[in-house]
Amino acid sequence: MAKRGPVRIGIAGLGRLGKRHATNLAYRVPGAVLAAACSPVDEEREWARDTLPEPRLYSDYEALLADRELDAVWLVTPSSLHAEQIVAALRAGKHVFCEKPLSLDVAECERVLGVAREYPHLEATIGFMRRFDPSYRDAYEKAAAGTIGRPFMVRSQTTDQNDPDGFFVRFAPTSGGIFLDCTVHDIDVARWFFGGARATRAFATGTIALHEGLREFGDVDNGVGVVEFEGGRLAVFYASRTMAHGNDTQSEVIGTGGALAIGHNPRKSRVEIYEAGGVRSESTPTFFDRFEDAFLHEAQAFVQAVAARMAGRAPDGAAGATLADALEATRIGKALREACASGLPVVL
Ligand code: NAI
Repeated sequence: MAKRGPVRIGIAGLGRLGKRHATNLAYRVPGAVLAAACSPVDEEREWARDTLPEPRLYSDYEALLADRELDAVWLVTPSSLHAEQIVAALRAGKHVFCEKPLSLDVAECERVLGVAREYPHLEATIGFMRRFDPSYRDAYEKAAAGTIGRPFMVRSQTTDQNDPDGFFVRFAPTSGGIFLDCTVHDIDVARWFFGGARATRAFATGTIALHEGLREFGDVDNGVGVVEFEGGRLAVFYASRTMAHGNDTQSEVIGTGGALAIGHNPRKSRVEIYEAGGVRSESTPTFFDRFEDAFLHEAQAFVQAVAARMAGRAPDGAAGATLADALEATRIGKALREACASGLPVVL
């Protein structure tokens, strides 16, 4: 039955990124009410009590799902929990947004897609927020309009500023490794610009430049991958945890009639500093500084899509990555991880 009124959302996970999503949903997304929040950590629930406009607070995800007032859940939990939490949300009749990656395991991704097919009236989106970044979207629309002819090559990188405290080492057991954690975004960009073309083969290598602690998890802090797609398309990826200057996420799409470069200067603002040594700009320190607008726009788009479904209409705005897109991103990310570990190409 059609339902009007705001989309009532419950967020699970109030860590590094969850707090940002919660603040967007509570204060910056028209048509959304952040009605509940869930975290097993006392301090995170205290943060929610102090910062958010009176959400109901839960320490247990099952209790959040049992909240009958919620229309949708918003998952910003560890990647290893995403698949089972999406399945539980769909079974509880909730629309679901989940941070990337869908799962670290391809069979788990397939299971989620199978369950989602039973609930076609529920929105299920994975947070590949670059699809909502104004510059990436502008480039996508230009490519779709034929500005660069036929795109056949994507060169894309996700590189984070080095954290001398080794946050990434502590994160390694649940992150899935650099290809599934970072390159998964670049993979989604390549697939998006290639119109969902199927990947056929993956090559990869990597090195540990600084964080020796990653070795025991079979991970690297700098990785390079090459992926072949059907139709003679190619993608070249680079991911790093050790950049000195900041988060430097950039992509280039090369076509038969031109190329598009997205974000090549990772400047924090439009200020240039003129000094004795030369002219410089400061860099975006973190992924959130670079993609703040993208995170907001993806939240707005998800809420519009859910509102449309609740009103009995098909969503008509810009769509985020589907579960099927996210499954392919995991499949390719896993292949890169395997190629890096074995030194051999992986046929997909
Ligand atoms: P985090 O470790 O800082 O936060 C995880 C949160 O989940 C914590 O609040 C923790 O208390 C909570 N949690 C753990 N188990 C839970 C459970 N059973 N039920 C409810 N909450 C539970 O991690 P971070 O960095 O915030 O990452 C979270 C997710 O966001 C990851 O999947 C990561 O891949 C993704 N992410 C995406 C980014 C992007 O660029 N789109 C950037 C950073 C993270």
